[in-house]
Amino acid sequence: MDEYNRRHFIRTSIPGFLGLGLALPSITALATRANACYGRVPEHGAINWDAFLTAVEKEAAKQHLDQWDQVDYVKKAAALALRLNLQDPALAEAFEQTKNGLGNERTDFYKLEKQQSFEISLVQFEKGEKISHHDHPGMTGVLLCATGKVDVWNYDLLEQQAEDSPLLLSQTAKNTLQKGMVSTLTSKERNIHKLRAHSLTQLVDIFAPPYNKERIRKSTWYQVDTEPYQGKKNIYQATKH
Ligand SMILES: [Fe+2]
Repeated sequence: MDEYNRRHFIRTSIPGFLGLGLALPSITALATRANACYGRVPEHGAINWDAFLTAVEKEAAKQHLDQWDQVDYVKKAAALALRLNLQDPALAEAFEQTKNGLGNERTDFYKLEKQQSFEISLVQFEKGEKISHHDHPGMTGVLLCATGKVDVWNYDLLEQQAEDSPLLLSQTAKNTLQKGMVSTLTSKERNIHKLRAHSLTQLVDIFAPPYNKERIRKSTWYQVDTEPYQGKKNIYQATKH
């Protein structure tokens, strides 16, 4: 037991803590402090950054199983994101850094965490800033709106009938995210999206698996027609660029 350090305990599951705690009350106290906010678990169940990472890690690790239920994963990761205490001091530095991006007229990305099975970034948009249509090859995503208001359009890529037939996207959702709301995507559904901010917006984005060289290489940006394809509702022709 001497070799355990604080982070090791933090990364242990909560049931694991309870089991250890029967024999080691002092460790239970440490665990409670680590997993809660200021030593207490608030009624609404807010969890601090370390506890959040532990829980996401546990869920995201399931991607290595033969059968990974991505729909179930994004549901669970979204529920965890909604419980994240954004006031946690562990996040204060990242939110402080976002001030450096104000006025630079582009979307800013700040890496919060990268592990083998997932990564988390803080993305900041100023009013009117947008990210055009792009996909996330073989990945899932959970976007938590921490601040602001942003429109998110999601699309599925329709199977091409023939090699020379047009590339078509089906718009499956358009949502306006505000503080405390989430948007999700899986490798099969809503995988393509575009975003445009109404006001200063900060998103906490969780991607599982994380980007690597291959996924970056496979990532595709699309130019999408503004008018529906052949008048078909929510179907748009796209070209890769
Ligand atoms: Fe994206």
